[in-house]
Amino acid sequence: MSKFISFEGIEGVGKTTQIELLKTYLSKKNQSFLVTKEPGGTAFGMQIRKILLDPETDFKSKYTEVLLFFADRAEHLASIVEPALRVGTWVICDRYIDSTLAYQIGGRQISPDFIEKLTSITPRKPDKTILLDMNPIESLERAKNRAVLDRFEKESFDFHNRVRQEYLDIAAREPERVSLIDVTGKSKERVFEDIEKEIRRL
Ligand code: TYD
Repeated sequence: MSKFISFEGIEGVGKTTQIELLKTYLSKKNQSFLVTKEPGGTAFGMQIRKILLDPETDFKSKYTEVLLFFADRAEHLASIVEPALRVGTWVICDRYIDSTLAYQIGGRQISPDFIEKLTSITPRKPDKTILLDMNPIESLERAKNRAVLDRFEKESFDFHNRVRQEYLDIAAREPERVSLIDVTGKSKERVFEDIEKEIRRL
């Protein structure tokens, strides 16, 4: 049976590296899979992504940002994720609904009720969510060593702390679905050992 796995966490926590390791692992197991991401898993989504990450973007309504994330997700689900799952392909997604809960409820402080209503547009839940966690002081340092900072990376330490706290709250509410992995001081191989255990259970 196909599985839908999402990777979550604040910036610079190492999601991309771990997704690469998972790709190698699934290939060795001869499991068909596709790797995708939000925002930007479709051509339409890439255009939305550009607007969302551009530091020059300055929305006047506090709802525009979250509506764009849902527009990206609706197209992504309908055109990429659902068709793949239907034919037995596993889907590995770099960020999904928990990013919206963490960043838009935690970070932007939009009402959970409003976001709850929008969630009915994209009801698909991941079978497994790998949440990589570390203190934002450390992860933001890592992110800063990358290229130019995007609109989210430019946010304050407080913002990222609220995002992290919301992620931890989700993990506490849904311990079955969300596997919380503390990456502090661990090598990428050591982190992947923890992930592999979770994947084997699937
Ligand atoms: P991206 O470069 O994919 O993040 P990273 O490399 O850190 O994984 O940028 C996506 C940004 O969008 C990231 O800062 C988180 C944010 N985001 C939201 O605020 N809400 C959402 O629903 C999603 C999917 C992402």
